[in-house]
Amino acid sequence: MTTPDLDAYWMPFTSNRQFKKSPRLLTRADGMFFTDDRGRQILDGIAGLWCVNAGHNRPRIVKAIQEQAAELDFAPPFQMGHPKAFELASRLAKLAPEGMNKVFFTNSGSESVETALKMALAYHRVRGEGQRTRLIGRERGYHGVNFGGMSVGGMVANRKMFGTLLAGVDHIRHTHDLARNAFSVGQPAHGADLADDLERLVALHDASTIAAVIVEPVAGSSGVLIPPQGYLQRLREICDRHGILLIFDEVITGFGRTGNAFGAQTFGVTPDLMTVAKGLTNGCVPMGAVFARQSVHDTFMTGPEHLIEFFHGYTYSAHPLACAAGLATLDTYEEEGLLTRASELQGYFAEQLHSLKGEPHVIDVRNIGLVGGIELTPRAGEPTKRAFDTFLDCWEQGVLIRTTGDILALSPPLIAAREDLDRMIGAIRTALRRLA
Ligand SMILES: Cc1ncc(COP(=O)(O)O)c(C=O)c1O
Repeated sequence: MTTPDLDAYWMPFTSNRQFKKSPRLLTRADGMFFTDDRGRQILDGIAGLWCVNAGHNRPRIVKAIQEQAAELDFAPPFQMGHPKAFELASRLAKLAPEGMNKVFFTNSGSESVETALKMALAYHRVRGEGQRTRLIGRERGYHGVNFGGMSVGGMVANRKMFGTLLAGVDHIRHTHDLARNAFSVGQPAHGADLADDLERLVALHDASTIAAVIVEPVAGSSGVLIPPQGYLQRLREICDRHGILLIFDEVITGFGRTGNAFGAQTFGVTPDLMTVAKGLTNGCVPMGAVFARQSVHDTFMTGPEHLIEFFHGYTYSAHPLACAAGLATLDTYEEEGLLTRASELQGYFAEQLHSLKGEPHVIDVRNIGLVGGIELTPRAGEPTKRAFDTFLDCWEQGVLIRTTGDILALSPPLIAAREDLDRMIGAIRTALRRLA
């Protein structure tokens, strides 16, 4: 295949100059594999970008999108509806943690986060506590790239270029603790007490100024940080004590990644608002959503009935193609038991991942469900380079992994066979052994 002109496209979150010297072009995908422009089969170790949970090119989903495009290509989402939007919301509400039965549609994880933050602010205002304007995130959190999500996020490279961000945001400490928790299998034992950091911010700002706390149950993009045992429970208790809404950002953990439909169910903690995207449509059509507790939703349902209750939404909220893809995705997950498959595979996956302990440069391995993180010692004076070289080496071996800083991440499609997992780990082992 001839390579297209690569000049005009400014690629997102990419080292553009390196890429354009040595492009990695994907041309097809099926099941666990991409095909690249050299005709090679590339094993997908990261479900595309944590999104293709049912694997690629699933016939039911493809057909649903094709048919929907011909039947109803667009329907305005403001003051109008179409049946599949309601059907999808009802199906999602049935999968959600108990009581989170209202669903607001967006087009991405970032938009879901902005929506949830705005819902939290507006909720308090409608209740007559409009002074609760402060939003609390967590260090090393990733909540997308828009101004709200970036502000509550805690990844320095994503923040430092972009000015002063939102006012009135603060952060609790992250939970990463190599000294006490390195090589933990599943949830680490130490660190529930880190949730108490929220009490520090309550003491500093006063609870009456705080609207919401947002965390990822498992931080993915900042390097696969698994919540310590008891940590999320403690955060929930503190939020309850102070009337603060708890938002779980489940953009990565949603739709089966941790062994249940949602991380909230795996960890046994129900938030007030929950953001999702990615696996909602198996990555096929952009779509996100915010789940809200009935009580949060009902707070808005006051005033004259002809008035709009929440001044927020997107032209493409509940887009017909996305709804059709979402419904077919849920069918596929249900037919194949994919939402709980990670709980069946996680023991084997953990064994394989943790067999990397002792390989060159490996200072931690961590896992939950079908998510794995392998942390490497950075090369002196060249942070991130060792992990990036490992990624390039795996790519040459025909395996796609992901890196963040000096951490390697694996999040295979939930259809992965044991041999696929073996091959991913094998490629990483080979790369680590031959790289300086
Ligand atoms: C936890 C979390 N929130 C939000 C986002 C942003 O999603 P999107 O890239 O769809 O805007 C991501 C993306 O990886 C994510 O992991």
